[in-house]
Order: sequence, then structure tokens, then C-alpha cells
Amino acid sequence: MNIIRVRDYDEMSRQAALFISSQIAEKPNSTLGLATGGTPVGTYENLVAMHRDGLDFSQCFAVNLDEYEGLPASHPQSYAYFMHHNLFRYINLPESARDIPSGSAADGEAECRRYEQAVRARGVDLQLLGIGHNGHIGFNEPADDFPRVTHRVALTRSTLDANARYFTANEKQPEFAYTMGIGTIMAAKKILLIASGSGKAEIMRKTLLGEVTPSVPASILQFHQNVTVIADEAALGLI
Ligand code: F6R
Repeated sequence: MNIIRVRDYDEMSRQAALFISSQIAEKPNSTLGLATGGTPVGTYENLVAMHRDGLDFSQCFAVNLDEYEGLPASHPQSYAYFMHHNLFRYINLPESARDIPSGSAADGEAECRRYEQAVRARGVDLQLLGIGHNGHIGFNEPADDFPRVTHRVALTRSTLDANARYFTANEKQPEFAYTMGIGTIMAAKKILLIASGSGKAEIMRKTLLGEVTPSVPASILQFHQNVTVIADEAALGLI
């Protein structure tokens, strides 16, 4: 595992975008696994600026970690909308070269099966990850075992509370989501984990130095062959 300690959020975002752009330079038709949440917003801003300076996404394909059940792509809190709003509308990644579980699928289980097959058939070259305070990656919450494939998950109280800030008082926050499994994530050739802020310090310590256990889902990354962590001093403050 390669751990890059940077000064702050801005530096994390710049370094993460550089890492992703190197992947595209090395393999222009890379399949990029992308993440949502607060942490990657700055990374996407940097990628947009790099695109203005010539970074070409035209041969890439993008898949995403997860999506809320019940939210159509047009819903401002859906992850499909997040990706469009923060990245896709600014870059030259063809619309046909993106996939994300459909939050509005009539049969959620069938949608998870479709998505798993699609992601596995393509193969992810570089998976970007954030990390939840409870160690979740994607929406793989602490559990008794590591989920292997894309599945429907009930969000924990900790995750619901962390994401409540995105929903207004009269919007119903979804309690279920579809997420790549830990197996799906671990099948990526390279993984880039980004983290910022002292609120992530304890979980980063457990993830990087603690026991590998499904009660800290991100700890499985210790077993991946090619993980880079880019995190700021605050997030690595207990290491
Ligand atoms: C998002 C995702 C989540 C987030 C995690 C951290 O697609 O899969 O695992 O990465 O909840 O969220 P932030 O970055 O908001 O702290």
C-alpha cells in the first residue's frame, strides 16, 4: 500500500486528480470507477480544469460505486445527478460510456445482477474510493462478512446521519441503496482511497493499521495488491 500524506483537502484533491489523469495517460480507454460524497468534489473540480487544458476522456468508460434506491437520475440527491453535476457535464466522456445502478429500476435485485455483470465484464482499471466514518466503502456497511457482489443494502444510522445534510426537511431520505460489493471493488486493478479531515482519523487508523474485519469494511484494502491512499495530515493524524 502506497500512502501519500498531503497538507490539506486542496492538495489531496490536486494529487488525486493527477493520479487519475496519469491513469488516463497510461491507458486512454481506462474504465474508471468513481465515487460520490463530499470528499471527491475537489478531485472532480481539478479533473474538469485538466480537461480544459486537454485531458481527454473520450475513450474512457465510467462506472460508479453506488446509488440510492428509489431516486431517479433526475433527482438532485441521486448519485447519477451528482456525477452529472460535478463532472460529466463538463468533460468529453460520451453519455454511452457511463454506467451506474439505476435507482428507479422496478426490480432492484435484477438491477444489481445486471450491474455486477456489466462491471465485471468490463473490468475496472482504477477505482476511486472515499471512506465513511464507520469504515464503509461504497455502501458496504459494517457487517458479519464481506459482501461479494453488487447488492441492495439497508443504510445504517451512522450513514443516514452523515448524509442527512444533503436532504431538505420535506425530502424523504432513502434508507436503501444499491452498491458494488466488496468483491466487486477488490476486483479493480488499482484502487485510490482519498480522505480528508480529523473526523476520518480514527477510521483511517483502523483501516490501515487495524485488523482486517468486515466490521471495518475498508480494512480489506490491506489485502489488495495495488492501493494508493492520498490523505491529508488531519485524516492521517492518528498514524
Ligand atoms: C459514495 C460512497 C461512500 C462515500 C463515503 C464518504 O459513492 O460510496 O462510501 O465515499 O460515505 O463520504 P464523504 O466523502 O461525504 O465523507
